[in-house]
Amino acid sequence: MKESTKNFLRFGAGLLIGALLMALVPLAILATGAIDMSAACPPTFMERGMAPWALDCSMGRHAPRATNPDDNDPNAASAGLEHYRANCVMCHGAPDVNPAELAEGLNPPAPKLETDDAQSLTDGQMFWVVKNGIRMTGMPAFGKTHEDREIWQIVTFLRHLPKLTDDEKHTLELALAEDHHHEESHGAEAAHHQEGVKGEPSSHYAAAQGEEHRHEPGAEAPYGNREDERGPATPAP
Ligand code: HEC
Repeated sequence: MKESTKNFLRFGAGLLIGALLMALVPLAILATGAIDMSAACPPTFMERGMAPWALDCSMGRHAPRATNPDDNDPNAASAGLEHYRANCVMCHGAPDVNPAELAEGLNPPAPKLETDDAQSLTDGQMFWVVKNGIRMTGMPAFGKTHEDREIWQIVTFLRHLPKLTDDEKHTLELALAEDHHHEESHGAEAAHHQEGVKGEPSSHYAAAQGEEHRHEPGAEAPYGNREDERGPATPAP
């Protein structure tokens, strides 16, 4: 065999072994369990730098260029508020409205959406993120449960977030107080509910609940668990 052919084969073999090592070394590191996958551990460089960059690139490529078709619909923002109340405020909060407890454990955290940073997304990018979610984060894909029209309504509301009225803030706070109630209604710690969530919403909620339960057997204990709320079991006729 000619010397030059030998050299070429050596070079090829080196390239192959190099490529194999490049693939195997990261796998070997992962296999040792050295990478901490817990959400409690602080984000690494990959997560702080690479992941947001990759997300920007992905949005740049996939997000629709369309502008919001609901822009002139006066009801879009209030419809969007309803969706936001039911699906978003627990993680993202709103101006003067803290998110629910669960949001504190999110890694990466859910950003505030009224900030310049979030508002710098185009309508199409917001639409795309809400519809498709962001994998390996807490951000769900709402396209599975919401029609495109509803997602555009949410986008309309996201644009309105920085100018939220006191009434709208109150509606969102109430939603969180309600959630808090449902979360813990399985436990019997009724007393805990009386302390309520930050600020006053729980007292409003208590008033609303009292109204609802007035004619029921458990009326004096609106914060009881689900069993109590159903009242005493009545035998079938
Ligand atoms: C379970 C928590 C959770 C819920 C519920 C949730 N999100 Fe998110 N969202 C996140 C997290 C976490 C991120 C950040 C992901 C990341 O860092 O890449 C995010 C990111 C976003 C972003 C991108 C912000 C940016 O600046 O890039 C938008 C827009 C958004 N969410 C909108 C919504 C809307 C609207 C809803 C409700 C329809 C919603 N989210 C519900 C957790 C949530």
